Amino acid sequence: MRIDILTLFPEMFQGPFSESIIKRAQEKGVAELQCHNIRDYSTNKHKKVDDYAFSGGAGMVMSIEPIAILIEKLKAERDYDEIIYVTPDGEQLNQSISNQLSLKGNIMILCGHYKGVDQRVRDHFITREISIGDYVLTGGELAAAVIVDSVIRLIPGAISDETSALTDSFQDNLLAPPVYTRPADYKGMKVPDILLSGDGKKIEAWKEQQAYERTKKRRPDLLK
Ligand code: ADE
Repeated sequence: MRIDILTLFPEMFQGPFSESIIKRAQEKGVAELQCHNIRDYSTNKHKKVDDYAFSGGAGMVMSIEPIAILIEKLKAERDYDEIIYVTPDGEQLNQSISNQLSLKGNIMILCGHYKGVDQRVRDHFITREISIGDYVLTGGELAAAVIVDSVIRLIPGAISDETSALTDSFQDNLLAPPVYTRPADYKGMKVPDILLSGDGKKIEAWKEQQAYERTKKRRPDLLK
């Protein structure tokens, strides 16, 4: 899978993309991540990428031209399955959207800043708009990094224990059950006896029950 990120702040991705699973997925060739600086595509002599809103009011709007030039350039190089704009007024990200995206070949993610991008970019180039939650971030970069992280870990080969992504919270609309590791007794804080019983069937039933109880208590909306 290839993901191209269109941003005014490519350096914001250096940290998240150079550690842990995302780093390893790239090294293994499971995912290719490319960041492009929108400013490099400005034809303005001062490399301006934004302007005042025609509707007035405070805040600048990202101009269509550099974004259009960059998107057209990338589209000429390969086909894209999805061109995503991250924005607080998009559909809210969930595990099902991440699963869908993990099956795609090439996707672009456009990050907005200031008051957002000129609406014509959204109307003419964007195929999907995604929000990571009902709160406003300074820009789309952190949202794009969240999407990339949630998608890449689902690609077969990205996580060494492939079954592990399948047992995550939300994969079957249930939260994950509690987990424990050694020691079995830490200063009197004990691991539930059943997990030490060695009875695989009973342990599985316990995990299912715990997942259900936790979901019922914390996220009853998921059970509907
Ligand atoms: N840009 C600013 N806030 C955002 C959010 N909550 N989700 C996606 N993109 C954003």
